[in-house]
Amino acid sequence: MYLTKEEEKTLRGDDGETLQKAMGILVALGDIYGADALIPIKSAQVSGVSYKTIGDAGLEWISDLKGTVKVPSVLNPAGMDLQNWERINIDVHFAKKQLEIIQAFKNLGIDSKCTCTPYYLDGFEVGYRDHLAWGESSAISYANSVLGARTNREGGPSALSAALVGKTADYGFHKPENRIPNFEITVGFELSGSDFGALGFIAGKMIGNKIPIFHLTKAPASDEMKMLGAAMAASGAVALYHIAGVTPEARDKNIVFDRPSERIAIEKSQIDTVYASADNSSAGRPDIVTVGCPHCSKEELEQIAKLLTGKTVVKEFWIFTSREVANKNKNLVSEIEKSGAKVVCDTCMVVSPAGDKYSCMMVNSGKAYAYVPGMCGMKSVFGTVERCVKEALGENI
Ligand code: F3S
Repeated sequence: MYLTKEEEKTLRGDDGETLQKAMGILVALGDIYGADALIPIKSAQVSGVSYKTIGDAGLEWISDLKGTVKVPSVLNPAGMDLQNWERINIDVHFAKKQLEIIQAFKNLGIDSKCTCTPYYLDGFEVGYRDHLAWGESSAISYANSVLGARTNREGGPSALSAALVGKTADYGFHKPENRIPNFEITVGFELSGSDFGALGFIAGKMIGNKIPIFHLTKAPASDEMKMLGAAMAASGAVALYHIAGVTPEARDKNIVFDRPSERIAIEKSQIDTVYASADNSSAGRPDIVTVGCPHCSKEELEQIAKLLTGKTVVKEFWIFTSREVANKNKNLVSEIEKSGAKVVCDTCMVVSPAGDKYSCMMVNSGKAYAYVPGMCGMKSVFGTVERCVKEALGENI
C-alpha cells in the first residue's frame, strides 16, 4: 500500500507509540484487503465501549493509548445510562469500570456521547459519498444505505485507529465497485413500522453478507429503514442495502445497477412467523419490554408518548435513546415516564447487563430479537410497538 512520507514517519514511530500502533493496524488491514492508499475520513464511531463486552482487558488497552483523535468521534452505546445507572439495577463495581472506560476514551478527545444513531447528533452530519470509519453494525448500515456514505464494518481497534490517524484504508465499501447489489428481494405487499424489523430479520438470515436491492410497494420512512438495516446486520452480516427508487445510490442517475441473478420474493406469511414468536407459549410471557434498538428518534418517542398518555405500566418498560435526543425532547421523555416507563440513555438492552435478571424480553426490533438470547441469556419475542406498549400496560392482547 502506498504511504505518504508523513504516513511513513508515523508508521516508523516518529509521532509516538499510540499513533504508530494505530497506523500499523490501518496498514495491516489495507495490505490484507488490497487497499492502494489511506483516505481521509469525516468521522469515526468507536465500538467496544460496554464493560460487559470489553472487560478489564479492553479498559487496560484503551487506557494505555495516548493522543487525540483527528476527526469528530463518538462512542457506541455503553453498558449503562451514564447518569442514571442505579435505576436500571447496575451494580457499583460495573458502574465504576464503565465510567473509567468512558474517561479513557475522553482522554483521547472522543466525544462521550454513546449512541448507535450518531447520524442524529448535531455536528456529526453525514453526506452522500462521505468516507467514515464507523463501528456499530446498524449505524454502518444506515450510513452506507440510507445516507449513501461509505464505511466498512470497523471493529473497535480499527475505528479507534482511524479516528486517531484521521484516515482509513481504501478498500471494501469505500470503493464504488464493491457497492453494487448482488441479490434482489421483492416484497409485493405493504409493510409498515416494525414489519421492517421482521423483514430484515428474515432477509439477513437468507443472504448473509450480500448486498440486496429491495423492490417495495412504497418508500419506507427513515425509521423503518433504520430497523431494516439493523435487523439484517444482526441476523446476517449485511452492511449495505439499496431500495429501488429510494436510497441514494439507487436514485443516482450516474449509477446503473445490473439486475442481480440471485432473486427471492418474501411472502407475508414469513413476516407473520416473526410476530408469532409473541404467541409461542414456550417462550413464556415477557417480564420486561424494551424498544429503541436502534436508539429512538424524536418521531419514535412521540409515538410511544402518545400510546402511553394517561396510562400506567405494570411491567418494566425501557425505551432506549441517545442522551442528545432525550435532552432535546424533554417533554416527550416526561410524558413517557409519567406512565412508569423509563427512558434510558447511552446504552441498550443488548450491551447492558441491566436486563440479565429477566427471563423473557418483548422487543419491536429485529436486531434485538436476534441478539437478546445470545447476549443476555433470555428469550426474546417480537411485536409491533403498539403490542409492546400493551404488554407493558398488562392489557389483553
Ligand atoms: Fe443499538 Fe444496541 Fe440495538 S447498539 S442497534 S440498540 S443492539
